Amino acid sequence: MKKRVEQAIILRNKEIAPDIFDMVLKTSLSQDAKAGQFIKLYPDNNKNLLPRPISICEIDKEQGTLRLVYQKIGEGTCLFSTMKEGDTIRILGTCGNGYKLFEDDKIHIFVGGGIGVPPLLETVKQTKGEKIVILGFRSGQFLKEDFEKYGAKVYIATDDGSVGFKGNVIELMRKENIQGDYIYSCGPKPMLKALTSYGEEKGIYTQVSMEERMACGIGACVGCVVDTKEGRKKVCKDGPVFNGLDIIF
Ligand SMILES: Cc1cc2nc3c(=O)[nH]c(=O)nc-3n(C[C@H](O)[C@H](O)[C@H](O)COP(=O)(O)OP(=O)(O)OC[C@H]3O[C@@H](n4cnc5c(N)ncnc54)[C@H](O)[C@@H]3O)c2cc1C
Ligand code: FES
Repeated sequence: MKKRVEQAIILRNKEIAPDIFDMVLKTSLSQDAKAGQFIKLYPDNNKNLLPRPISICEIDKEQGTLRLVYQKIGEGTCLFSTMKEGDTIRILGTCGNGYKLFEDDKIHIFVGGGIGVPPLLETVKQTKGEKIVILGFRSGQFLKEDFEKYGAKVYIATDDGSVGFKGNVIELMRKENIQGDYIYSCGPKPMLKALTSYGEEKGIYTQVSMEERMACGIGACVGCVVDTKEGRKKVCKDGPVFNGLDIIF
């Protein structure tokens, strides 16, 4: 369906970890949303701010809702965090291509770093077969129980050792000798780069979701380009999900 702007109703907006907010929106965009896509939220109280891209964390077509999990960082997300149940928010979507899903009975590995964790939840929910989830955080964690609810075995790595393994996700994967058929990932660029090498070494097809800074979010400027083996591509239009081996990191 065509990308469109609409007013969504906020059904929930609560803090689930320090500065991490869980928002549920009633919106017709839920009907054509795909795992790994994102929407843009307009901070309408401040007309100078561009809409902010936030990944779709969960889709409920029956209830007509989208769940987003976002971190309060700057002006836009601070403003979103003050919004209440029943408020409306202007959104644009759905944006980007989402993950290629593989339905067959294989071993699926999902790797998220920090605020790259949320888009993996709907992806896990829609995937069949064995599901291994590796989550990396600076400190603490969020969404672990949600992944477990959808049948995944969850490993956690933290920089400070406050939860799970002390170290990064790649070190954890090597320690646990994680093997499988497909990797779906989202997180900071250095993590995606190391993960693509891990996938190449083990012969695992690796999809990476890039979180480049964005301006227009609809392919009209060149605010979000990444270098690929096929030339420069726009993350908001051609991505955010790419085959890791296509990206020139
Ligand atoms: C495809 C995509 C999906 C994303 N999904 C999520 C998500 O699910 N949850 C979440 O918390 N965050 C997500 N982000 C990052 C989120 O968009 C930024 O944290 C947010 O825009 C910051 O806005 P701000 O006004 O609070 O901060 P400011 O620092 O005031 O933002 C200033 C400008 O920089 C851009 N910007 C700042 N940080 C980022 C960033 N890391 N990535 C991209 N643009 C940035 C903003 O859009 C804005 O134009 C995603 C980014 C992209 C590109
Ligand atoms: S943000 Fe404008 S082209 Fe991607």
